[in-house]
Amino acid sequence: MKVNVPKEKNDFERRVAITPEVAQSLIKAGFEVNIEKDAGLNSYFDNAAYEKAGAKIVDDPNAIYRDADVILKVNAPTPAEIGQMKKDSILISMMYASTNQAIVEACQSAGISAFSMDAIPRISRAQKMDVLSSQANLAGYKAVMIGAAALGKIFPLLMTAAGTIKPSKVVIMGAGVAGLQAIATAKRLGAIVEVSDIRPETKEQVESLGGKFIEVKGDASVKLEGGYVKGVSDEFLKNQQVLIAKHISEADLVITTALIPGRKAPVLVTDDMVKSMKMGSVIVDMAVAQGGNCTMSEVNKTVVKNGVTIIGESNLPSLLPLNASELYAKNIQAFLLHLATHEGFKWEMEEEITKGSLIVHKGQAVHPSLNFAVNA
Ligand code: NAI
Repeated sequence: MKVNVPKEKNDFERRVAITPEVAQSLIKAGFEVNIEKDAGLNSYFDNAAYEKAGAKIVDDPNAIYRDADVILKVNAPTPAEIGQMKKDSILISMMYASTNQAIVEACQSAGISAFSMDAIPRISRAQKMDVLSSQANLAGYKAVMIGAAALGKIFPLLMTAAGTIKPSKVVIMGAGVAGLQAIATAKRLGAIVEVSDIRPETKEQVESLGGKFIEVKGDASVKLEGGYVKGVSDEFLKNQQVLIAKHISEADLVITTALIPGRKAPVLVTDDMVKSMKMGSVIVDMAVAQGGNCTMSEVNKTVVKNGVTIIGESNLPSLLPLNASELYAKNIQAFLLHLATHEGFKWEMEEEITKGSLIVHKGQAVHPSLNFAVNA
């Protein structure tokens, strides 16, 4: 089977779907691997490194789609690129299919099959394929780094002959994968870290990393399911804003990571809360692509409001392209080897990982989340 890897062409994207190391493993497993010329350059993997690993460099961006049995990508290709794929070939990338109708329709009309990396069920068997975790982990680290770099002060307590500098206070909203890594990173740099989440089990995790937990008691509207928040009422969010307002107003850096899967991100930091913050303080809104946890954040922009710098970087993993590509490549390798051998795909349609991640099968939309998809 020919496994082909195009260059990522989205703005702000520096990652690549496979590294030379993973190319070599796939070749060893019997696959033929072709990489579009310069696909790895932004992640610091040059063409020579892929060639040394046994992959072939392809200079023609159209040929890479046309000749593939399998396409491996980070972001979904455009409908035009999908249109070039041959019937019955297979696409594996992140797709966010339930909000990406044009991509699903392009897969249907091209008669291909498509798996979405972001839809892989988060079960323990699939942990090594979990791109949401591998990328959010790095994003949590980078959020602290860019927040710290935008601050006019240092994180740790510093006693000098010229006087004592008080440690910075970092408030982190949401203690999922990104939030927990942000806590660990900010603590290592010497900040005082306060954290809030509405899943009760996070209190212990936060405290074990040295964070102080801001308790916000859930009410009847807080729905938890399978370790996720499924929904909260507007009234709950208003009460939460009152409770955390004091912590936000005293913070030097606020990192928001709160997410309710499949919904717009909850508003945690309102205009008034931003106005209450000290001049020179910083907010990093990690949920900016899902509508934002802060009312004043803007996608892919850094804005200054009332002396507060608000960073809305929507692709933090891409700012760490080397590590992000290394982990993504390992995730995609584990996934591909779960689904296929070099002789072909197994198509175990009732198997949980296949079922959870298969969006389109031979031109037919099959995923239950696709309530918009109409099969021909
Ligand atoms: P996750 O699902 O592991 O964590 C989200 C956390 O938010 C959960 O612990 C949940 O309980 C909590 N939460 C939900 N509602 C809340 C509320 N009202 N108050 C406090 N906490 C609340 O998600 P993960 O993987 O950690 O990602 C977090 C966010 O960061 C998501 O919005 C994700 O899309 C975003 N992200 C952004 C990146 C970027 O480059 N900007 C990269 C990776 C993730």
